[in-house]
Amino acid sequence: MNITVINGTEKHGVTYRLKEMFLAAFRDRADITEYYLPKDCPHFCRGCVSCTIKGENTCKDAEYIVKIDRSLLEADLIVMTSPAYVFHTTGAMKALLDHLVYRWLPHRPAPEMFGKRAVIITQCLGAGAKSAAKDIKHSLSWWGISEIEIFTGALMGDIVWERLSEKKRSELTQKVKKLSHKSAQTDYTKPAHTNLITKLKFSVCRLMQQKLHKNDPEYLDGKYWAEQGWLGKARPWKQL
Ligand SMILES: Cc1cc2nc3c(=O)[nH]c(=O)nc-3n(C[C@H](O)[C@H](O)[C@H](O)COP(=O)(O)O)c2cc1C
Repeated sequence: MNITVINGTEKHGVTYRLKEMFLAAFRDRADITEYYLPKDCPHFCRGCVSCTIKGENTCKDAEYIVKIDRSLLEADLIVMTSPAYVFHTTGAMKALLDHLVYRWLPHRPAPEMFGKRAVIITQCLGAGAKSAAKDIKHSLSWWGISEIEIFTGALMGDIVWERLSEKKRSELTQKVKKLSHKSAQTDYTKPAHTNLITKLKFSVCRLMQQKLHKNDPEYLDGKYWAEQGWLGKARPWKQL
């Protein structure tokens, strides 16, 4: 199986340690590709919308984005990690998520995404890990992923793993290992289930794309939906 990991920080801190614990159950059975931000996507989206209007290859940062996008599409399991920075995901992670806007359901969602599973790992000192995870979950669910597991932790002591109490370290370790065990038991040969909310979002976007495609058959998003057969009877979760 393939796992693609997007690390929202380059630091080998607590997030890194928790992610390593999570991946331990997969080390001998998966090809794991990791990206570290901001190193692997060092620039901000400048809002030119060229990716949505002209295609993702026209993005000024295409050399970074297309590579990560391809890796996400090849993954059976996507793992996204981030510490909480001012109650949200890191700026580096947000910059990547902005770059991938063209994969959102109202634009050109990849059919592969509807059958994927994802895990989000976030932690913080006191509060903000949940809202950081939510930032990431928004994008994943709007890419079409339904099966998303979330780990959040609060250190409530120090920011250095070794200086945390034995009790806190054990609590976080047990929690992440439990999720890792659950994820490792999953049958990745079968595509994930697409939930009702994703199907509803898809239906609304489909109506929008039908209209856009009728008004302008050359409009990129509408053309993409037509080519996928989604303006007719085809549905991405049935194509897996
Ligand atoms: C810019 C910045 C903002 C932060 N904001 C928060 C926050 O909102 N809430 C919180 O509990 N901790 C916050 N922290 C602390 C980190 O989330 C915490 O130290 C975390 O364990 C760092 O993870 P790491 O070791 O993987 O870098 C912040 C740290 C930084 C550097």
